[in-house]
Amino acid sequence: MLYLIHARTEEARRRYCLHRPEEKPMRAIVIEEPGGPDVMKVGEVPEPLLGAGELLVAVRAAGVNRADLLQRMGRYPPPPGESGTLGLEVAGEVIAVAPDAAGRGPLGQTFRVGDRVMALLAGGGYAERVRVPAAQALPIPPQLSMAEAAAIPEAFLTAWLNLMTLGQLAQGDVAVIHAAASGVGTAALQLCRGVASQVVATASNGKLASLAQYGATQLVDRNDVPTTLSKSIRATLGKGADVILDLVGASYLAANIEALALHGRLVCIATQGGAKAELDLAALLFRRLTVIGSTLRSRTAEQKAALCAEFAERALPRFSRGELQPVLARTFPLAEASAAHALLARNAVVGKIVLEL
Ligand SMILES: NC(=O)c1ccc[n+]([C@@H]2O[C@H](COP(=O)([O-])OP(=O)(O)OC[C@H]3O[C@@H](n4cnc5c(N)ncnc54)[C@H](OP(=O)(O)O)[C@@H]3O)[C@@H](O)[C@H]2O)c1
Repeated sequence: MLYLIHARTEEARRRYCLHRPEEKPMRAIVIEEPGGPDVMKVGEVPEPLLGAGELLVAVRAAGVNRADLLQRMGRYPPPPGESGTLGLEVAGEVIAVAPDAAGRGPLGQTFRVGDRVMALLAGGGYAERVRVPAAQALPIPPQLSMAEAAAIPEAFLTAWLNLMTLGQLAQGDVAVIHAAASGVGTAALQLCRGVASQVVATASNGKLASLAQYGATQLVDRNDVPTTLSKSIRATLGKGADVILDLVGASYLAANIEALALHGRLVCIATQGGAKAELDLAALLFRRLTVIGSTLRSRTAEQKAALCAEFAERALPRFSRGELQPVLARTFPLAEASAAHALLARNAVVGKIVLEL
């Protein structure tokens, strides 16, 4: 069913991308007021205008991310100038190419109308069409469906950035991936393969058994992390962790610091478990630890382009060889975005949820 939402104010129109009658409309998820999953409706927004260096993509599938839930509630606004429509990643077909986008793909390639691409976005994915910087579009490996491809960009690029680029995961390292059953977590586990000597995965008890297939070598129940993480790593591996990718936050900080080995790196990218905690500076000094914080969405276009280029060169070919795989838990039609959000919020899946158009 199609709803036409009438913006009450210019501010609402700008924030939630509601269209004026003279603009070419397209279907998208619209939100009149922030709130629970049911505030999302299928409505109409203006089709985006192609900008410099960009592609216009007909969206076939859009990944659902934890950040979308926060944005829906009004707690994670899009960066200035970006679409107010939800959606940080899509897969679809190129339907228009800006003249100056030629040669601006991540590996210097030129995309053409009809190409299958998956893309990292700062917003706008829950819609029929989206504009995408050519430098943030990746060709879809031929064996993957659109839904599988839409499960890749945000999860794998986040994992790559924080584990490899910032966390400097090195051959033989011991890695810890918290909330390892999440979209980002299942991607991070796979990226550890062939690099880390041991991969400790933490998640809720019912999900732990499923994580070995993605590369986990040790499993820790998320309820035990604050009390036993360091002890169980040191007891079984004989040393602390070299890199910890933390998708939880404050409730894990003390355990993370205790678990790190000499020169260990802790990369914090989420606050699901709180934003404020006490930091043991003595441990930081004596073990010469590094604590890093990061967000991907707010990075500059140049930084995202560099990330996509590195990923396209070093990781993308591994999907075609079957060494990496999107972890697609469930798909929903766009019109059932509310059900998709409700399911993600219940922490009920391993991997990603994707909306299909
Ligand atoms: N900074 C960045 O650039 C960036 C980018 C992408 C994502 N993120 C963040 O990374 C996290 C994962 O994102 P996602 O989209 O992959 O998430 P997701 O698929 O929705 O999974 C999140 C998982 O976190 C676990 N969890 C939730 N609350 C928890 C708590 N209080 N303590 C311990 N575990 C908890 C749950 O796993 P179990 O049921 O297995 O315990 C849940 O399934 C989110 O917080 C997201 O905002 C940050």
